[in-house]
Amino acid sequence: MALNITLRTRLALWVIFLLTVQVVLVLFVIQRQEVIAIEQEQTERGLVLANSIIQENTPLLVRYDYFALKENIEARIDDQLIYIIFYDRFNMPAAGNDFILTYDDIYQFSNLGEDLKSREPFVQPRQLLDADHNPLMNVLEIEAPIFPQDATDRWGSVKLGLSLEEMQAEVRRTSMLLLGIGVLGLLIGIIGAAWLARRITTPILKLVEGTEHISRGDFSLQIDIDSQDEIGNLAKSFNEMSRQLQLLQRRMEEANKRLIQVEKLASIGHISAGIAHEIRNPLTAVKLNIQKLSEKENLDESDRVNLEISQEGIAQIEKFIRELLNYARVSELNLDWFAMDQIIDGSLKMIADSLELKDVTVEKHYGADLPQVRVDADKVRQIILNVLRNSCEAVETGGEIKICVERTDTPSGSWLRTEISDNGKGVPRKDWENVFEPFYTTKASGIGLGLAIARKILEQHSGTIRVKSQEGTGSCFEILLPCEDEP
Ligand SMILES: Nc1ncnc2c1ncn2[C@@H]1O[C@H](COP(=O)(O)OP(=O)(O)OP(=O)(O)O)[C@@H](O)[C@H]1O
Ligand SMILES: [Mg+2]
Repeated sequence: MALNITLRTRLALWVIFLLTVQVVLVLFVIQRQEVIAIEQEQTERGLVLANSIIQENTPLLVRYDYFALKENIEARIDDQLIYIIFYDRFNMPAAGNDFILTYDDIYQFSNLGEDLKSREPFVQPRQLLDADHNPLMNVLEIEAPIFPQDATDRWGSVKLGLSLEEMQAEVRRTSMLLLGIGVLGLLIGIIGAAWLARRITTPILKLVEGTEHISRGDFSLQIDIDSQDEIGNLAKSFNEMSRQLQLLQRRMEEANKRLIQVEKLASIGHISAGIAHEIRNPLTAVKLNIQKLSEKENLDESDRVNLEISQEGIAQIEKFIRELLNYARVSELNLDWFAMDQIIDGSLKMIADSLELKDVTVEKHYGADLPQVRVDADKVRQIILNVLRNSCEAVETGGEIKICVERTDTPSGSWLRTEISDNGKGVPRKDWENVFEPFYTTKASGIGLGLAIARKILEQHSGTIRVKSQEGTGSCFEILLPCEDEP
C-alpha cells in the first residue's frame, strides 16, 4: 500500500504542479497582452481626440483668442477627459480647464522639447493626487504639437489627460475572468491528474500484487489488464510467465512424486530381497516339517486343526513374499499384439470361483472393432485380475461388476479404455490417489500391493490407471493403454 500512496500521489502532484505552472504562465502572457492592447487602444483614442481638439481650436490659438479657447475647453471636459491645456509657441500655457489650474506641475510645463519641427506626440501615464497627497486617479497624458496649415514649425501644443479608470476597470474585469478560467482549468486539471494517476498506477499495482503472489509461491494469479500499451504487454508477459511457472511447478511436483515412488520402490526391493533370502529357506523347512507332521496318521483332531492353521499361515507368508518380490522386480516386458477382450475373458476365468462364491454377476460391453494392443499379456492379465479381485471383495453377495472396453481418441493420442466398475462400497474421494500407494490397504488380510503393482505395470506400458468412485454407489477403475498402429 505504501507504493500505492507514494506513486499515485507523486504522479498526481507532478501533473498538478506542471499544469499550474502552465496555466499561470499562459494567463500571465494573455493578461499582459490584453493590458498592452487596451493601453494601445486608449493611446490611439487619445491621439484622435487630440487631433479633433486641435482642428477645432487652432484658429483660436493662432488668433490668441484665449477666452474662447477656455470656453471650448470647459465644454469638452467630461468623465473621460479630465484636463485640456493649450500651450503657445513658446511652450507657455495659453488656456486650461479650471480643474487642472491647481496642478501647477502639469499646467505650467509642456512636455514637448525644443525641436519645433518634431511632430511626435508625447504620451505617458500619470497619477493625480488630491490636496492631501493621496492618489486621486490615474490618467494617460497625451501632448500633441499643433502645426497650422502649411506651417513647418510648431505653433503650440495641446495636452490632454484621459482618465484610465475605465481602462483599469476593464483590465481588472479581464483579469478576474482569466483568473476564473484559470481556476476552473486547474480544477479540471486536478481531477484529470487524479484520474490519470489512478489509471496509470492501478495496472502497476495489479502487477505488484502479482509479483507478491509469485514471491509467496502462488503462480495461479492471472492479471486482468487488457490495455494495448506497454503495461498491457507487461501484464501479458507476466501472465505467460505465471503459466509457465505453474506448469514447471506441476512438473516438478510430479517428478518429485515419481522420485519418491522410485526411492520407495528401491527400498522395498532392497528389503524384500533381504526378506526373501532370510525367510524363504527356514520357511520351506518349516513348511516341509509341518507337511510331514500332518501326514502322520495318529494325530488327534485338535492337533490336525492346529497344523492346518499353521499351513494357512505359511501360505499367507509365502503370498506376501511373492507379491513383494513381484512388486519390487523390474522385469523386461515381453511385448506382443493381444486382444484386450481375450485377456479380460482369461482373467475372468481365473477368478470364476471367487465370483461364483459371492454370486457376482459380470456384465461385459466390448466395443466393435477393438484394436489390438502391444502389451505383455501376463502383466496386463495381472492388472485386470487385481482390479477384478478388488471389485469382487468390495461387493456384497449378489453384487455386480461391469466391464466396458472401447477405443477413445483424445488430443494426447488414441487409447484403449477399459472400465471395471462395481456396486460395492466405493472409494472415498480423499483416497483416490492413496489406493495406488504400496501397502495402502483397508482390508484385514490385504497387503496393499494389488493396485500399486497395477499402476507400476501400466507405467511400464505408458498407460494409466485411475479411480472414479463414489462412496456408497461403487467404484469405477479406468485403465488406459496406448493404441499403436498394428503392423
Ligand atoms: N473396487 C473397490 N472398491 C472399494 N475399495 C477398493 C476397491 N479396489 C481397491 N479398493 C481399496 O483400495 C485398497 C488398496 O487395494 P489394493 O488392491 O492395492 O490392496 P488390497 O486389495 O487391500 O490388498 P492386496 O494387496 O491383497 O490386493 C483396498 O484395501 C481398498 O480399500
Ligand atoms: Mg487387492
